Amino acid sequence: MSQKSANYDALIIGASGGIGHALAEELSGDTDLNCLHMTAFQNQNRLPDAVGSSAVYQLDITDRRSINAFITELQHRASNLRLIINAAGVLHGQDLMPERRLADLSLENLQTVFSQNCFGHAMLLSALQPLLPRQGVTRIASLSARVGSITDNRLGGWYAYRASKAALNQIIKSASIELKRLNPEMVCIALHPGTVDTRLSDPFTAGIPDQKLFSPEFSAQRLLRVLMNSSPLDNGNFFAWDGTHIPF
Ligand SMILES: NC(=O)c1ccc[n+]([C@@H]2O[C@H](COP(=O)([O-])OP(=O)(O)OC[C@H]3O[C@@H](n4cnc5c(N)ncnc54)[C@H](OP(=O)(O)O)[C@@H]3O)[C@@H](O)[C@H]2O)c1
Repeated sequence: MSQKSANYDALIIGASGGIGHALAEELSGDTDLNCLHMTAFQNQNRLPDAVGSSAVYQLDITDRRSINAFITELQHRASNLRLIINAAGVLHGQDLMPERRLADLSLENLQTVFSQNCFGHAMLLSALQPLLPRQGVTRIASLSARVGSITDNRLGGWYAYRASKAALNQIIKSASIELKRLNPEMVCIALHPGTVDTRLSDPFTAGIPDQKLFSPEFSAQRLLRVLMNSSPLDNGNFFAWDGTHIPF
């Protein structure tokens, strides 16, 4: 891992999810890591078993009070926070499926998907800003999705998910510009994990060939490679699991 601090703290939002869990397990083996901070929303039982020094939190990124309580606790427990990955997100749920056509759109579903995939990431970044180091390489990544690329949209459909990820990318872009003014060595980027075998992708993986459906472990290893090799020159960009650049 390049340009990494010794004794750094890392934070993974959504460490109870398929990719977040694998990211946490992968990171926990890093001997330079001082403390791994991990959040879950509804499934604390799915957090990885503590390896080394870790701290767990319950957090709903769509709830302002929950964010405030989390930040207060994190402030007391974290130091030298150099790596933040937001792996929270939603694609489907009870009464919620990606739309195939305009007629499928519902305001309620649009609000739910935007709240979790975009507004929550934005509000958390806003709340975390005072805790960010003012010098030295500091990396922040939100898990976006290639389908959030407007340039790459050739199939249509999945209105809420696509649009929420496109909006998330714009938040990341703006934050990258502002955060770089506070710390010139800031790296704030969006990442696409590939198509990964998790609860989120489960209803949609039937036709996907095995070699194109990644395990969470494979995706996490590749995402961490991309993230830890990223430099301040990469700030404000969108990268896939293999390091290729994705247009917004
Ligand atoms: N899997 C894929 O193929 C794929 C492809 C492209 C992009 N992505 C993106 O990668 C990210 C992770 O996806 P995944 O496949 O790992 O999904 P997942 O297994 O369903 O995990 C989702 C995570 O988000 C958390 N979460 C949901 N709502 C939350 C809220 N309101 N507040 C805080 N945390 C919340 C969940 O917490 P609890 O379980 O504790 O409730 C869980 O930890 C998502 O942003 C997704 O859009 C995934």
